[in-house]
Amino acid sequence: MQFKAMILDNTEVSPGYWRMRMTAPPEMLSARPGQFLMVRVNPSIDPLIRRPFGVFDVGMYQPAYTGAVAQPYLEMLYRVVGKGTGMLSDLHETDLLDMLGPLGSGFNNGPPGEEKIIVGGGVGLAPLYLLAKELVRDSPVRLFAGGKTKDDVLCITEFERLGVECYTATEDGSLGECGLVTQVLESRLDYTGNRGRIFACGPNGMLKAVAAIGKKRNVPCQVSLEGYMACGMGACLGCVCQGSGHSNETPDYRCVCTDGPVFDSTDLKWEGETE
Ligand SMILES: Cc1cc2nc3c(=O)[nH]c(=O)nc-3n(C[C@H](O)[C@H](O)[C@H](O)COP(=O)(O)OP(=O)(O)OC[C@H]3O[C@@H](n4cnc5c(N)ncnc54)[C@H](O)[C@@H]3O)c2cc1C
Ligand code: FES
Repeated sequence: MQFKAMILDNTEVSPGYWRMRMTAPPEMLSARPGQFLMVRVNPSIDPLIRRPFGVFDVGMYQPAYTGAVAQPYLEMLYRVVGKGTGMLSDLHETDLLDMLGPLGSGFNNGPPGEEKIIVGGGVGLAPLYLLAKELVRDSPVRLFAGGKTKDDVLCITEFERLGVECYTATEDGSLGECGLVTQVLESRLDYTGNRGRIFACGPNGMLKAVAAIGKKRNVPCQVSLEGYMACGMGACLGCVCQGSGHSNETPDYRCVCTDGPVFDSTDLKWEGETE
């Protein structure tokens, strides 16, 4: 679906990280956690290519004017890394954005009652908030959030408000455990006897480590990949990654945009993994 969204708020929530709220069509309320949007960050042709962003949240808001009825909104959480995200951060209330979505596959929630383990690195937390909102309805949820410094660990208060138990780790020790979030995750799995189901999003190195932990401990694990995308609809093949069956003789490629971005971690071939 293509639609125009009007910006309601665009605020820097931590140095270099922004949260944008905008109007949305009612169809966005049924977006699956993990699905994404292709956003035209500028109405002109520069940059020509849309940029992909996860759906951080959807819901209803009450417009301020008298007699108004509640309207659907959607939110994105984004990190300024280049031209497109820089342009997004310059936008203001009432500016319009052209969006395509929701696209791709979402997370599979798994059975109710089971411990749900969410692992996010930096802005990888973006698609995990909507997931947590869904999972807390019928399962205990724990979040493991990591970053280089405390500035990279985002929106923890929002997760706590949902009733999620939060564990944090930073590489410089400025928040939570000093070290990698995967170390904290392993301690928790040691404690629970490898109970639960993992949902992860973040830098590739972190996803690879989380996938290895899931495999070693026999804990089901889904990952949301953030490959480079040009079309978001399976046409350009710019986003392909290798599936678990890949070899020189039998190529097995997956499109992150249409087969993913969420994959079962065992369906992918991770760098350095032997055939
Ligand atoms: C399915 C999906 C969901 C995403 N969700 C979010 C989200 O919710 N929030 C968010 O902040 N970002 C998200 N991203 C990443 C986001 O799309 C990129 O950061 C954005 O496109 C960069 O655009 P830019 O014009 O600012 O950067 P560019 O000017 O295009 O690039 C600037 C620098 O960033 C690097 N870069 C660009 N894209 C990526 C990428 N995908 N992964 C790693 N490095 C990259 C480039 O190599 C370059 O060094 C998502 C990506 C995908 C595929
Ligand atoms: S982004 Fe074009 S095929 Fe995936």
